[in-house]
Amino acid sequence: MALVTREELLNRLQQRYWETHPKSADYFTKSLRYLIQGGSHNLRLFSPFPFYDVRAKGARVVDVDGYSYLDFWQGHFSNILGHNPDFVIDILKEFFDQGQGLITGFPSLYQRKLAERILSRIPQAEVVRFTTSGTLASMYAIMLARAFTRRQIVFKVGGGWHGAHPYGLKGITRFEAGLRSIESAGLPASIDQEIITVDFNNLEDLEEKFARYGERVACLIMEPFIGAGGFIFAHPSYLHRARELTRHYGALLILDEVVSGFRFHAGVLQTLYGVEADLTVLGKAIGGGMPVSAVAGKREIMELCSPQAPPELRVKFEGGTFSAHPACMLAGASYIQYLIEHEGEIYPRIGQLGRLVRQKIEEIFRENGFLVCCTGGEEQLGIESSLVGVHFLRQELTELSSPTQVFNPAVSDYLAREVIFKLALLEEGVNTFHGFGAISAAHSQEDIDQALEAVEKTARYWRKIGFQLKEN
Ligand SMILES: Cc1ncc(COP(=O)(O)O)c(C=O)c1O
Repeated sequence: MALVTREELLNRLQQRYWETHPKSADYFTKSLRYLIQGGSHNLRLFSPFPFYDVRAKGARVVDVDGYSYLDFWQGHFSNILGHNPDFVIDILKEFFDQGQGLITGFPSLYQRKLAERILSRIPQAEVVRFTTSGTLASMYAIMLARAFTRRQIVFKVGGGWHGAHPYGLKGITRFEAGLRSIESAGLPASIDQEIITVDFNNLEDLEEKFARYGERVACLIMEPFIGAGGFIFAHPSYLHRARELTRHYGALLILDEVVSGFRFHAGVLQTLYGVEADLTVLGKAIGGGMPVSAVAGKREIMELCSPQAPPELRVKFEGGTFSAHPACMLAGASYIQYLIEHEGEIYPRIGQLGRLVRQKIEEIFRENGFLVCCTGGEEQLGIESSLVGVHFLRQELTELSSPTQVFNPAVSDYLAREVIFKLALLEEGVNTFHGFGAISAAHSQEDIDQALEAVEKTARYWRKIGFQLKEN
């Protein structure tokens, strides 16, 4: 018998959060008057209300109520070097001091530099085109694939997130019908037939879908490391087979590396698998904290967005008032250069911290009687990973390898992860996302120790009060 019920625990946490964050509460409440739900990105608007940051540096963020948090959200996992690194700020200051930086409507000298640096790390890609969000970049990549192959069908992984564009809004988080339903109103009616979802890391399903739709498939778009779908690496055999099948059936393989690009080494994850995508989608880290995204690939495909392309195949991946924005190109080019030059110092260290956190969190919860699985690690290829997903399980699993498990309420307790655990750790001064989040080069061993102490305190308390991982 629980001493404190799940509902009581949640209520207490929310109540304390309201009481201890009066300024954020006030700001949020007033924002509701002007903004839908109080803001413009739902993930930032966690329940009962978000805290508002006034300062962010390195591993920490300070809010309007004066609390300092260790932050593992790190700009939607973009900030591999932590918040506001000095060298990026200094370069931008200098740029602005020279009277440059805002939009001019001219091509900007730094665009080529960023393109060169990115392409130096994607062996098979020949050219790149920039835009402003991962959403747009993945949409354009799909349009290019459909035009290039002159086919309609897009294979998308159930639980994969590529942003909110028509080709990405089927099979995201809704578990009913196995992550296969349309999740937005307002889409073209044909989308449901044109997007076919496949199960992540399920070879049989992939083979079967290719056998069924084969010659009609324009592309398979997938994340080699699934981010929002649970922080899970593709099995090497799955990714290699995806490459073989796409080739065999004349479809393109689009790897969405918005999360994984420059996260595990100073390059793209596909290289560590020995797989070459036809088109690679990048975002997050490549902007050095600014809005930059890109599609990189073979010239033959990418040229469909040039005015010389045959009119019937031409893809209008060409506008964007703010695409390749001068300050963003400078920030991105400087950041990527830094990551390349310091690769050997950054990645092994943050990867080892990631491994430690994954091991310790599982251990802590096991010792306290909870079934918890940490994702974000990779065994077969030995990739060092600084990402940590925490899943509160309702049943024993041999492996958590697909979003179909992550979003299945019989398997995984979503509320415990995204709301209860999050608020509990906030009380301890630790801001997590998807159970934990991203370790940056700015996190010290002491920061990690502090975060693990907070986890331990929470797990002990949950045991003491008899907290249950049961149905929501
Ligand atoms: C793998 C992946 N692709 C695409 C996107 C969309 O990027 P953006 O939010 O910049 O539009 C995201 C966003 O988190 C992502 O994780």
